Amino acid sequence: MNPCLACSGLVTPFMSFGRMPIANGFLAREQFDSEPFYELAVGFCPACRMVQLLNLVPRENMFHEQYAFFSSTSVRMAEHFRRLAAEVRTRLAPKPDPFVVEIGSNDGILLQHFAQAGVRHLGVEPSANVAQVARERGVTTVSAFFDEDLARRIVAEHGQADVFLGANVMCHIPCLQSVIAGIDLLLKPDGQIMFEDPYLGDIIEKTSYDQIYDEHALYFSLSSISFLFGRYGFEVVDVTPLEVHGGSMRYTLARQGRQTVSDAVTAQRAHERGLGLEKLETYEQFRRHTEQSRGELVSLLRRLRGEGKRVVGYAATSKSTTVTNYCGITPDLVEFISDTTPVKQGKFSPGAHIPVRPHAEFAANYPDYALLFGWNHAQEILAKEQAFRDVGGKWIVYVPKVQVLE
Ligand code: SAH
Ligand code: TMP
Ligand code: ZN
Repeated sequence: MNPCLACSGLVTPFMSFGRMPIANGFLAREQFDSEPFYELAVGFCPACRMVQLLNLVPRENMFHEQYAFFSSTSVRMAEHFRRLAAEVRTRLAPKPDPFVVEIGSNDGILLQHFAQAGVRHLGVEPSANVAQVARERGVTTVSAFFDEDLARRIVAEHGQADVFLGANVMCHIPCLQSVIAGIDLLLKPDGQIMFEDPYLGDIIEKTSYDQIYDEHALYFSLSSISFLFGRYGFEVVDVTPLEVHGGSMRYTLARQGRQTVSDAVTAQRAHERGLGLEKLETYEQFRRHTEQSRGELVSLLRRLRGEGKRVVGYAATSKSTTVTNYCGITPDLVEFISDTTPVKQGKFSPGAHIPVRPHAEFAANYPDYALLFGWNHAQEILAKEQAFRDVGGKWIVYVPKVQVLE
């Protein structure tokens, strides 16, 4: 049994996805022979309730100068972060000369709004290529991993912060203790923490097992976050369920006793008890649901191949790496994956080696079926691809269940 990443307890393993490549490790044919693999497996800590990966990929293998994920590719996410920026600015309004720090600021999708409004801000983004895009947008960005040392340097240079922000990044950091100790140094006494990540409750309810991949070291619930931050004197004062990324949760925290705790927190605690997030059986059941989902998807794809249908993947998401490798989906089942990110195009998907092609190739010769790997962007994608359906094209989704959309 592994020691827990969040407390001193021991983690009970509940599922292995087998041999996995790096989720965002899109590669050229010449790199096939040197592709790194590890075992993707998850466990549950009964002491602090944190669900977590059992084998970690070194962070420098995932976040570097060729990081393939650019936040601003999604129009919907751009709008989501525009609204978040407006909300944070309202909260900051009474403060003179506020200072905002965001970690995992990527291409500046959120901080650009603070930069444009002349609000003091700092982005912390270790992937140098995306950090450079942010700077070109006028977002002050330091290219480093956030931890206690960096927090000390930020305070020395800029002073303490009023707000600490992070979207889809806290769950990427296995050594969260160092991050929370850093936040404790960085934040003013009345400062606030706001972060959002995919929500464990949604993963369990929707069997969205593809949220599990190397970059997501931790799978948060209100319960595990309260426990972890409580040890550093912080408490959750508000929670907001979000639809983005297939179901996320935004946690707002402050130093204990500084703010009233909202009713939403009490309601969410009850909801989590209802879901059984504190029980190992819940995760064992999740494993059975995942195995069933794999069986259904593979038989559907094999049947379509038998009928001579063309199936193309839509959106080479990091999540798709878990699905293709766990289900054994190779180019004989899915001809190529259409993706709008230039650095992925012309390469092959990690492990399964399905070619990634520009969207123009999808549009120029529609397949019979499109397997929606970007299911979390379904609304946006289905709306803009109406022409595909108009000529009889069909969508395959696998969350919350395997089905062909009619
Ligand atoms: N916030 C953006 C990006 C999420 S992707 C969004 O929601 O779209 C996660 C980002 O966190 C990556 O750009 C990665 O380089 C960065 N990251 C990973 N570990 C980090 C750490 N320890 N400190 C700061 N950023 C980190
Ligand atoms: P993610 O946000 O779920 O990780 O997915 C991001 C990937 O999906 C990225 O490579 C771009 C791709 N994508 C498309 O190809 N077309 C689209 O319409 C959308 C929304 C994303
Ligand atoms: Zn623990």
